[in-house]
Amino acid sequence: MPTKPIELTATEAEGSRPVHLVEKGTLAEKGLPPEILAWAQDNGFSGRAGETLVYPDQSGRLGGVLFGIEGAEGFAPLATGALARSLPEGDWHFADAPDNPHLAALGLLMGAYRFDHYKKNGAKGLRFALPDGADLARVGRVADGVYLTRDLINTPTNDLGPAALEQAVRDLADAHGAEVNVVSGDQLLQQNFPMIHAVGRAGTEAPRLIDLTWGPADAPRVTLVGKGVCFDTGGLDIKPASGMLLMKKDMGGAANVLGLASMIMAAGLKLRLRVLIPAVENAIAGNAFRPGDVLQSRKGLTVEVGNTDAEGRLVLADALALADEEAPQLLIDMATLTGAARVALGPDVSPFYTDDEALAAKIMTASGSQADPLWRMPLWKPYDARLSSKVADLNNVTADGFAGSVTAALFLQRFVERTAAWVHFDIYGWNPADRAHALTGGEAQGIRALERLIAERFAG
Ligand code: BES
Ligand code: MN
Ligand code: ZN
Repeated sequence: MPTKPIELTATEAEGSRPVHLVEKGTLAEKGLPPEILAWAQDNGFSGRAGETLVYPDQSGRLGGVLFGIEGAEGFAPLATGALARSLPEGDWHFADAPDNPHLAALGLLMGAYRFDHYKKNGAKGLRFALPDGADLARVGRVADGVYLTRDLINTPTNDLGPAALEQAVRDLADAHGAEVNVVSGDQLLQQNFPMIHAVGRAGTEAPRLIDLTWGPADAPRVTLVGKGVCFDTGGLDIKPASGMLLMKKDMGGAANVLGLASMIMAAGLKLRLRVLIPAVENAIAGNAFRPGDVLQSRKGLTVEVGNTDAEGRLVLADALALADEEAPQLLIDMATLTGAARVALGPDVSPFYTDDEALAAKIMTASGSQADPLWRMPLWKPYDARLSSKVADLNNVTADGFAGSVTAALFLQRFVERTAAWVHFDIYGWNPADRAHALTGGEAQGIRALERLIAERFAG
């Protein structure tokens, strides 16, 4: 597991310094010594969210910190993340109980994350006492999952192609006693994963389907499927430079389901977990699949390739078809599937799709309670007809491009028949700007909410 640049401690260290949590305009009611109030006033401290003011003690040394916590919406409960980067070195604790101790503690760890694999930065020694009401083990395993997801997305493709992604899954499996089976290269044809092969065969590293299983065979089955396109050039319908620049993150769905799997296994939940990752590069070469090609699929449906840049749904379709063969109790897929999802909801909020009303309601509840923004969008059946093809059972794109995230979800739905509870997340997987709990870079989206939902349903 990745080491964390801030350490949460179960008890308050001797000489630990206080962080006062201050809502706007309530500083005077805190019973702080008058010299601190004067210092706050002279510095214009108002208590606006994220505002941080270091104050001295009587001898002019470091005394403590005032931290503004106005507001509870959006990512606000995780805003403590800013402290992880701004606090001077040493031992710290909250002088006031945070409204949500779990998220306050998690925010510290999420905000402390830096991707320093290629560029070292001198991490300072910060220790923070766990606030009352937070569970050290739970905060730790959620943060471990988030760190794993971020590390995988941030690692560029020259160090994280399909083979390295397979190795990452094997490492995770070894840490938790899970098993991994991999079908790669031409074996994909023999074992009937024609679309994973078609999309990935132009890559210099063999395309593969990575299959991890964990937990007792007779326990309820939860299957996670993640889009593992290690790089998406767009294929022959090549992306413009601006659209290709960030495409190392096109395995963000795989990175997210692996982060979630890590949380589930670390918690020892009572379930049989399966993680399926089609790992490929959508590359350009003489043997690349082409616009107009008609592909066979595992499910038996034929697919006309309208655009080779709509590759994620092709590799996911074969993986979902396999998942569906054993009709798991819960089937979740996550994918950086469409630019349209970002147009609709921006980078923060991930759309999800399911026909299971009860599941949708639970996801929205968990999204709110975990400050992990998600929003349901419709599997609008009338749009399904737009995926029709004159020469095949369906086309991988629609002619007009309307509702691109919805039609991509409808495409996937064609490959899930037997599983009652299926949910698809069209994630962005990336923070485009620094904020309190997350610096610019790869991001875990939806998996903190899903961890809560799954943990409540399959308590350990
Ligand atoms: N990986 C992309 C989607 C994507 C692009 C996600 C940018 C996040 C940011 C996907 O493979 C893709 O290229 N989708 C196309 C589909 C289109 C050809 C129907 C898209 O969204 O433009
Ligand atoms: Mn693409
Ligand atoms: Zn893609």
